[in-house]
Amino acid sequence: MAISVRDVAERAGVSVGTVSNVLNTPGKVAPDTTQRVLTAIDELGFVRNDAARQLRAGSSRSIGLLVLDIGNPFFTDVARGAEERATEAGLSVLLANTDEDQRREAAYLDLFEEQRVRGILITPVDEVLPRLERLRSHGIPSVLVDRLATTGGFSSVSVDDVAGGRMAAQHLLDGGRRRLLFVGGPRDLRQVRDRLTGARQAVADVPGARLEVMDVASLTMLDGVSAGRRILGLPERPDGVLAVNDLVALGVLQGVSILGGVRVPQDLAIVGYDDIDFAAAAAVPITSIRQPRNRMGAEALDLLLAEIDGNDVHRRIVFQPELVVRESTRA
Ligand code: RIB
Repeated sequence: MAISVRDVAERAGVSVGTVSNVLNTPGKVAPDTTQRVLTAIDELGFVRNDAARQLRAGSSRSIGLLVLDIGNPFFTDVARGAEERATEAGLSVLLANTDEDQRREAAYLDLFEEQRVRGILITPVDEVLPRLERLRSHGIPSVLVDRLATTGGFSSVSVDDVAGGRMAAQHLLDGGRRRLLFVGGPRDLRQVRDRLTGARQAVADVPGARLEVMDVASLTMLDGVSAGRRILGLPERPDGVLAVNDLVALGVLQGVSILGGVRVPQDLAIVGYDDIDFAAAAAVPITSIRQPRNRMGAEALDLLLAEIDGNDVHRRIVFQPELVVRESTRA
C-alpha cells in the first residue's frame, strides 16, 4: 500500500495542506514544521505522485517523443538533440517507439494526452495529422520530425530525402557503376519513397545505367543481411547498392562479403543513409548520406517550445543532405 500525504500528515502531526505546502511551496512553512514533515517523509518512505499533481495542474513538465524504431541510432541521436534542449527548458522527454505500427502510434498518442504532455515530437508512420489536430485543439501542439509537414498547420524538421537519394545514386554513377540496386522498404514510409525517387532521377540522366529495387520488410540490419544473401543469388549482380539507411547498408555488407566473398567496393559499392556512428566503424567503412540528427532533434524541440508558448510559428525546416565518402565506394 503506497504511503499517502495523509499518512505523512498524521506522522508529523500537521494538516494535509501543510504537507502539500512543504512539497510545493516550502517557503510558506516554518522551518521546524518543515523539518517534522521531511522527517516523517523519510521515516515512511513517501514518494510523491507527480502524475496526479501534474494532472491537477492541467499539464505536465514532459514532452512526448514518438519515433519509428528505437533500435535505429538515427532516432536515438535525434532524441538526444531534443532532450538536451528540453532539459535546458526544464522539461523532460518521454520517449516511445512505434516500430512503424500505426496502432502503437495511436496508443502512445492517447497515453501522451492522458499524461497531459506539454507537446509532442513525432516521426509519423503514415497519415496522422487529423489526430494531431485533435490533440492541438486539446492544448497539446505537435511538431513533425524527419517528415515534411504537408499542410501549413504544422511545423516540421526534415532532410530533403529526394536530394539525398539523388546524391547517393549520382555518387555511384560518378564512380562508374551502372547496375544499381536500391535496397529499401516498406514503400509506405515517405523516407523510402523520396530516396527512391531521387535515385531514379539521377539514373535517368545516365545512358546505359539502370536501377532495380529490392524491397525489405523493415529498415533493420537483419533485413539488410537477408538482402545481401538475395543479391548473391541474382543471375546478374549489381555493381552498386543504394541502401535506404545505414542499418540496411551494414547488413548488406555483412551478407555479401562475409557470407558470399564479394569484395566491397571492388565488386560491389555500397552507399548508406543517415551517417550513424556505426557507418564509419564498419569493417569496410560505409559511404553515407549524412542527416544532422542531433540538430534535427534540437530544432524540432525549439519549434515545439514556441508553439507551447502560444506562437503558431508553423515553420518547415528542411536540411540539405551531405555526402560522406568512405571505403565502401572508393574507386
Ligand atoms: O526510419 C527509417 C529511416 O528514416 C531512418 O534510418 C532515417 O533515415 C529516417 O529518415
